[in-house]
Amino acid sequence: MTYTYRKDRKNIDWAQVTRLLNGFGLTDFTPAQTETAFSNSAVNVFILDGDKIIGCGRALSDGISQAAIYNIAIDGAYHHQGLGKKLIALILEETADCNVVLYTHPDTVSWYEEQGFRRMKTGLALYHPDKITAITRMGFI
Ligand SMILES: CC(C)(COP(=O)(O)OP(=O)(O)OC[C@H]1O[C@@H](n2cnc3c(N)ncnc32)[C@H](O)[C@@H]1OP(=O)(O)O)[C@@H](O)C(=O)NCCC(=O)NCCS
Repeated sequence: MTYTYRKDRKNIDWAQVTRLLNGFGLTDFTPAQTETAFSNSAVNVFILDGDKIIGCGRALSDGISQAAIYNIAIDGAYHHQGLGKKLIALILEETADCNVVLYTHPDTVSWYEEQGFRRMKTGLALYHPDKITAITRMGFI
């Protein structure tokens, strides 16, 4: 199948991106909040099948040495085709000189390890008080 890989936000349907992310519980954004989050991120990647957005991801970056990946999702109907790894590779093209950090669900730690990410010994996070219960329940901390 032929998919389109996009790194720009032109005509992106934020309602679709929001459904994708909220469907996996990765965010609880409105479409406007999704647009803001992606617009304020240095790197955006979208994968489309025709007009349908089937993958998305973004990274914050200072453009020099540090970056952080968020909101990685592939539509469930398209899993196991290598699209998730392609998404990460496309983001990493844009953060070539950076150390790249992320945190993820316990179930996907090994997926990132397969792609060269390593567990950190001194990574720390100050989670928002409203999120602590969910973060703890999901096994992040
Ligand atoms: C994680 C995710 C992006 C992977 O997308 P994908 O396109 O199916 O992944 P790929 O096809 O590139 O890689 C699949 C391979 O990685 C490995 N893999 C997949 N999920 C894995 C997991 N949870 N843990 C370890 N390895 C995994 C398997 O070897 C798999 O090979 P297979 O297809 O032969 O079974 C996708 O499952 C997803 O969107 N999940 C929901 C959202 C999410 O958890 N996002 C990441 C946290 S921010």
